[in-house]
Order: sequence, then structure tokens, then C-alpha cells
Amino acid sequence: MPPHPFTIAVSGKGGTGKTTISSLLLRSFIALGETPVLAVDADPNANLHEALGVAVHETLGSMREEAFSRNIPPGMNRHDYVRFRFRQALVEAEGFDLVAMGRPEGTGCYCFANDLLSECMKQLERDYRFIVIDTEAGMEHISRGTIGKPDMLLIVSDPGARGLRTIARIREIATQLGLEKEKIHVVFNMYKTGAAPVDIGGELPIAVVPEDPSVEKADLAASPVSLIPSDSPARVAVRELAERIRGMAGER
Ligand SMILES: Nc1ncnc2c1ncn2[C@@H]1O[C@H](COP(=O)(O)OP(=O)(O)OP(=O)(O)O)[C@@H](O)[C@H]1O
Ligand SMILES: [Mg+2]
Repeated sequence: MPPHPFTIAVSGKGGTGKTTISSLLLRSFIALGETPVLAVDADPNANLHEALGVAVHETLGSMREEAFSRNIPPGMNRHDYVRFRFRQALVEAEGFDLVAMGRPEGTGCYCFANDLLSECMKQLERDYRFIVIDTEAGMEHISRGTIGKPDMLLIVSDPGARGLRTIARIREIATQLGLEKEKIHVVFNMYKTGAAPVDIGGELPIAVVPEDPSVEKADLAASPVSLIPSDSPARVAVRELAERIRGMAGER
């Protein structure tokens, strides 16, 4: 068991499978007994909850706007009120909790609000063994500090040559955020059997997730993708990835 939570951010170009991989990774940690796990939806266009099959009532973004614009209940200061609302925004499910970050910033100055949120996040994070963050390519919540720097960054990419440029761009953003090179890994997703392996500069991807008809089926049926059969190829590949990450987390 890691001494403190091991945080994995999942980034990549739009539509490459960030949400699918994040949700499968989370389910794998649960299956491995590495509970509880925290799922953080850091994509402003939040849909990780759908992939996990739970409902979100409020994002931290909308909570923040409300908590700072309305009168707080008598006998509470704003700090306490925000902490209270933060706990309310947390979705509690079997083996995992989920928090949706929402929009990073509104129109006003949110420094104070964001400081409070990041303080709440830091306190919350201590309760988990693994934290999986589904984030857009720009990783804005990380750059604004509402979520801390991850222990590992997975860049999800399609295995084609087109994906390479995005991998390079995200690596650059990650480096600017102060993430060390050895913490950054590439995951190829939607890999077609027989396709030629793409050279990503001498380094091997940490995982190759095949194109999986069960994922497509779940998508069409609007059912939670993380609950596809346990022997489906994408789920098997992500389980292996989770095992590998668990090993790496233990070596820290
Ligand atoms: N391994 C896979 N096999 C088949 N289909 C997949 C696979 N991974 C993802 N998909 C499909 O690709 C689409 C995009 O996946 P997903 O929503 O996970 O990507 P995303 O990177 O989170 O997208 P966005 O940028 O919109 O947040 C979905 O329709 C999903 O069902
Ligand atoms: Mg997504």
C-alpha cells in the first residue's frame, strides 16, 4: 500500500479515450482491493460520472460561485460553509468517491475561493489510496493549483502518427507544470489488431488498449463503460496497467 495517495492524471487530445481509460482504471483499482479510490473529473465538460454509472448533482465550480455569492447561514463563517458544501458535492459510491471540478474560473477574481477549494481537495485526498483525474489536454485545474501535481501523467493517444504531435504538446505543458519526465507515460488507445507500432521516440507506451466492441456497445446503449464485461479486451489491458501502476506506486 502506498504511504500516501498515488495520483494519476489522464490527459490527451479530445476523443482519444481519457474518460474511458480513467473509469476503467478506477474500476481496476477497486477490483485489486486498492480502495477507496477517488475519481476527479477535471474536464469542464464533465462526464466521468456517466462512465462510472453515478449521478453528480453539483460541480465544485458551480458550488464555488454559489457559496461566494449568497448569504451564508447564521452561525457559520465562509470557510466552514465552503467546507460543508464541498463535502456535499462529493459523490459517495461503492469503493470510490467522485468529485467533479467544473469550470476552473468564473468572471471575477477567484483566488480566495480557489485557495479554499485546493485546501479542501488536499484534505480530502489524504483519505484515498489512489486518485484518478480525468483532465483535458490543457490540464487547467492543475496549472491553477486547484488540484496538486500528479505522481503520474498518462497521455492517452490514438496509435496513429497524428497522435504524436499531441503527445509532444502535452509533454511540453506537463514540463511547464513542473512534472518530471519519468512521471509521464503514453497509453495507446483504440489499437487495431495488426496495426504497425508507432515510434514514440525510443520509449515504449506503458499500455496498449485495443479497440473494443464492448466499449462501443456501452457507448451506443448509454450504459456505464467502466462496467463492460471483465474479460473484454480494453478492460483486461487497463487491469494490467493498474497492476503495473500499483507496482510503481509501491516502489516510491
Ligand atoms: N478502446 C476503445 N475501443 C472502442 N471505442 C473506444 C475505446 N476507447 C474509447 N472509445 C470510444 O471513443 C469515444 C471517445 O472516448 P472518451 O469519451 O473516453 O474520450 P475522451 O478523450 O474522454 O473524450 P473528450 O475529449 O470528449 O472528453 C467514445 O465514443 C468511446 O466509446
Ligand atoms: Mg472525456
